[in-house]
Amino acid sequence: MSSRLIGVLIGLIIGGSIAAGIVYLQIQELTEEAAGSSATQLGEADIGGAFELVDGAGKTVTDADFAGRPMLIYFGFTWCPDICPTELGVMAATLDMLPEPVAETIQPVFITIDPERDTPEAVADYAGMFHPRMIGLTGSPEQIRHVADVYKVYYAKVDLPDADDYTMDHSSFTYLMSAEGDFLDVFPYGTPPADMAARIAAHLDRTDS
Ligand code: NI
Repeated sequence: MSSRLIGVLIGLIIGGSIAAGIVYLQIQELTEEAAGSSATQLGEADIGGAFELVDGAGKTVTDADFAGRPMLIYFGFTWCPDICPTELGVMAATLDMLPEPVAETIQPVFITIDPERDTPEAVADYAGMFHPRMIGLTGSPEQIRHVADVYKVYYAKVDLPDADDYTMDHSSFTYLMSAEGDFLDVFPYGTPPADMAARIAAHLDRTDS
């Protein structure tokens, strides 16, 4: 690895951390706002909403296709060297920690923010590597921009020194959405699977009863 490439990588990590920090603060504000309001208003926190994407079979899917199932959603890209595989591994470990009846109701979802390279087949194969029930979604650049906007996800293309090569800078959060499609919780990078599992179980207990 050239020192120039190392410099670029360090720059990316620092830049990504700052961007993720800003997004995190925005999300924290939103969740604090939500926590201050009544339980019925929690679902109205301004995260999530209608989307149209493409699944691993190349078929169009929308948020309505997931109605009735809570979702765990992570946004990233299959070429990600480090952060995405770590967080998707955490999501899989979390699902395995939850009691079977709870875990089976949850749809784990990976949504790419790199639609240029992440084909339907690529996202399906990638998601399946982490968990047998995890699905991968991609879409047109416009569809991806829209779903990222409604979930307050930051992402940007970053050119690498090698001609035609690039990477993606992106925020790293795992979102828990209710069976009704309402925002329930968000887990920042580094949340241990046991903590995530406990919070998910608490949320779903509350909404199921
Ligand atoms: Ni990543």
